[in-house]
Amino acid sequence: MSLFAPLANSWIASQRPYQPGRPIEEVARELGLGDVEGIVKLASNENALGPSPKAQEAMRKAIPQMHLYPDGGSFYLRQAIAKKYGISDDMTMLGCGCNEHAVLLAHAFMDKGDNWVVSERSFVVYKLVASLYHCQCIEAPMKGMTHDLDAMLAAITPRTKAVVVGNPNNPTGTMVSQADVDRFVDAVPASVVTVFDEAYMELVDPRNQVDTLKHVKAGKKPVVTLRTFSKAYGLAGLRVGYAMAQPDGIDLLNKVRQAFNVNAMAQAAAVAALEDDAHLDATRKMLVAGRAQLMDGMRKLGLDPVESVTNFILFPFQKAAGLTAALTKRKVIVRPMAGFGLPEHVRVSVGTAQENAQFLRALSEALIELR
Ligand SMILES: Cc1ncc(COP(=O)(O)O)c(C=O)c1O
Repeated sequence: MSLFAPLANSWIASQRPYQPGRPIEEVARELGLGDVEGIVKLASNENALGPSPKAQEAMRKAIPQMHLYPDGGSFYLRQAIAKKYGISDDMTMLGCGCNEHAVLLAHAFMDKGDNWVVSERSFVVYKLVASLYHCQCIEAPMKGMTHDLDAMLAAITPRTKAVVVGNPNNPTGTMVSQADVDRFVDAVPASVVTVFDEAYMELVDPRNQVDTLKHVKAGKKPVVTLRTFSKAYGLAGLRVGYAMAQPDGIDLLNKVRQAFNVNAMAQAAAVAALEDDAHLDATRKMLVAGRAQLMDGMRKLGLDPVESVTNFILFPFQKAAGLTAALTKRKVIVRPMAGFGLPEHVRVSVGTAQENAQFLRALSEALIELR
């Protein structure tokens, strides 16, 4: 019996929920295992080195204060971000992961019938959020596996409120250059918010990182840069991300968030993580070695993975769902990409050397089973 469905907003009733990477515990239950030992999760682009040790220490210290509500303004964390990036603390605000910023941006800027423009193979959350607000998400074509910023510009309509560039892009692992980004910011009309989702930027070789903050600081165009503690800092479980923009943009996002959207443990850990350069360096080193190990191993198995600048690798495989299931049976969780509009692709996150080796062993067995 349908009690609620007839009462729901029509555009919500048809909404398909986001399909996250499967948790290790769920796979352990499916495989009939007593515990999670030996299962490797390479499905959600987490940091295989774990949380920053400094963040872990800060969390232990924060435990006795957990009966208190958090600082709703995340004062110390905003100060730390402001110091790191050379901005004032009214140019940043925190969210429950930068996933929340997708919702806050829609809340602040989108009205029924508006749209935002993304690339066709990009982070699916922007598509889901647009439909929640009874809005469209226009998907511009890509050049192969890389954003085509000219196509994104061409896709802008009079009802476009924002254009969202994931850089590096999930799930393709590719990046657009500084020169392309600079040209793009100049060309986007001032009536459209330009959002750079840089969830993976800190993982890129610092020599190749793209600076969008200079456009935020310049204050000539409505530009928002999003970052997260989920990837480079290994704090995905805490759910904390941040936006950087001119103060009037930050004011708007603050108006539409919940008062205590970032918990106290997350704030304490994130302040400490921002100072942990050693952990970030170790993470980048692990990724350089891990990408080489995975690319080489996959190519030797006859696959054609997409060159990645970050902590995951996309590869085409016709029986993607079958391959995912065959790997799960072998205790390796990866992500089939049907939900991202790539039904014949699989994405694997870069793990430790040992995890990557386990993936490659499982992959070679799975390919024999499926070919
Ligand atoms: C491109 C992109 N943006 C944002 C996010 C969300 O990050 P957070 O964990 O901060 O919500 C992800 C997570 O996978 C992502 O891939």
